[in-house]
Amino acid sequence: MLLLTLILVFLAAALLYAVLVWNHDYWRKRGVPGPKPQLLCGNYPNMFAMRRHAIYDLTDIYRQYKHKYDAVGIFGSRTPQLLVLNPQLARRVLVSNFSNFHDNELSKTVDERSDFIFANNPLTLTGEKWKSRRADVTPGLTLGRVKTVYPVTKKVCQKLSEWVERQLRLGSPEGINAKHMSLCFTSETVTDCVLGLSAESFSDKPTPILANTKDLFNQPLTFVLFFMLTSTFPSLSNLLKLRFIPLKVERFFLDLMASAVEARRAQQSAGGEHFERSDFLDYILQLGERQQLDNRQLLAYSMTFLLDGFETTATVLAHMLLNLGRNARAQELLREEIRAHLQDGFVDFDKLNNLPYLDACLQETIRLFPPAFTSNKLCTESIELPNRDGPNFVVEKGTTVVIPHYSFMVDEEFFPDPQSFQPERFMEPDAVKTFRERGVYMGFGDGPRVCIGMRFATAQIKAAIVELISKFNVKINPKTRQDNQFDPVQFFITLHGGIWLDLEKL
Ligand code: HEM
Ligand SMILES: *[C@@H]1O[C@H](CO)[C@@H](O)[C@H](O)[C@H]1NC(C)=O
Repeated sequence: MLLLTLILVFLAAALLYAVLVWNHDYWRKRGVPGPKPQLLCGNYPNMFAMRRHAIYDLTDIYRQYKHKYDAVGIFGSRTPQLLVLNPQLARRVLVSNFSNFHDNELSKTVDERSDFIFANNPLTLTGEKWKSRRADVTPGLTLGRVKTVYPVTKKVCQKLSEWVERQLRLGSPEGINAKHMSLCFTSETVTDCVLGLSAESFSDKPTPILANTKDLFNQPLTFVLFFMLTSTFPSLSNLLKLRFIPLKVERFFLDLMASAVEARRAQQSAGGEHFERSDFLDYILQLGERQQLDNRQLLAYSMTFLLDGFETTATVLAHMLLNLGRNARAQELLREEIRAHLQDGFVDFDKLNNLPYLDACLQETIRLFPPAFTSNKLCTESIELPNRDGPNFVVEKGTTVVIPHYSFMVDEEFFPDPQSFQPERFMEPDAVKTFRERGVYMGFGDGPRVCIGMRFATAQIKAAIVELISKFNVKINPKTRQDNQFDPVQFFITLHGGIWLDLEKL
């Protein structure tokens, strides 16, 4: 009996082992070189322990193989992924061969039943549906509309500095939490610009908007578990879909959307023909009328602006303050540039987008702390690719292709002394364009799926920086670490341990 049990246990273990390694010769069979995968973790050794952010695992592989190959085959657990090592190949995937890679890997993890709102985001939509949704929401984010809501942004900037002054009066030895402050700022601008409502983020009694947005991104463990499970057992991803937006949060925003729509319609009828605020909500409502969308669909559209806007923008703002706080000279140069263009405490909208040093500081921040550290694409049509010192190979339909933007951006071949903050890198004429065309810096992506919120995001970040740098001296509280190590478990890239600022009124 004991023997039988032992045999059964042994057989079960052997079977599990066979299942787990069964696919590990996928790349070898196709003539694609690459590092040996480990049991369970594949080529992400820190997947379970979460000691280190996954991008460092990819960067190690990148450094090891980049001189020999354009791409290597790796495994996320058991799932084969093609890791792109040559920036020119990255550009082919995103731009010239886009028709072979037009969907995001994220599309595999959600569907309309599990997560209606997120499944309707351009990020996760696929094929023709993506194309038409992108065409629907893009006109809502033109430079003209971003300019229309600039007065709202300016109003929020004032609230921001009043809030900082209040914090300074209260005094805290820990300094100001840059991420919290930035999230207050973006949740305020985004909800006001998109829904015409105030989140009251800077008041003593913030509306639940801020808390609900924070809840969205405070669930990294669920994500990690989900990705581990579906990459170990890929067929599970047909059954198991991710709910990125918790039901409670969805309900909250649905109610909010309904009240925003109601408020706007009341304003319109009170103002008669004269009410005019050509902002995002206005655009969404017009779109809704043309396409006869209900509130839930309207919310799905608007959530594109809300969801994709809060956290990315706040992350970049917080890290830009970190970099300026650490680099007194850059901060002083920036302050001089800003002061030369200040009128009544603000920089004119058109000027805001044309301050070279301000833009260089922003780009350099995204290079060091990119919210989108990789682009994970799906091969949508098989294609044969060359591989430098190796044979040509075929990427099969359905394969995930990983573009490790961060690995390119901290490669000293492209950016000497890569970990140091040097805005001067982006001061050459057309620097951003040149780096993008070389494939080594694509802070907002590239090709047909390039970020649609770029103008909105940069205008907000720049407005907040102008406000703070012109009124305060930014220093770093000693509680903040001195290197650029990322938090291993956060969804978006963040300095491990947080960013703590000591601000001084000028
Ligand atoms: C500084 C802040 C931001 C950064 C660094 C950023 C970066 C990016 C990047 C790199 C992509 C391409 C992803 C890929 O191809 O793998 C992307 C896509 C996207 N971004 Fe942003 N983004 C930012 C802010 C925003 C904002 C404020 C919005 C909305 C208002 C937004 C909406 C989107 C959407 C909808 C997509 C998907 C486009 C598509 O697949 O067609 N982003 N973003
Ligand atoms: C992929 O892009 C390259 C140029 O980068 C081009 O020569 C080739 O024809 C493209 N292949 C397909 C299948 O579109």
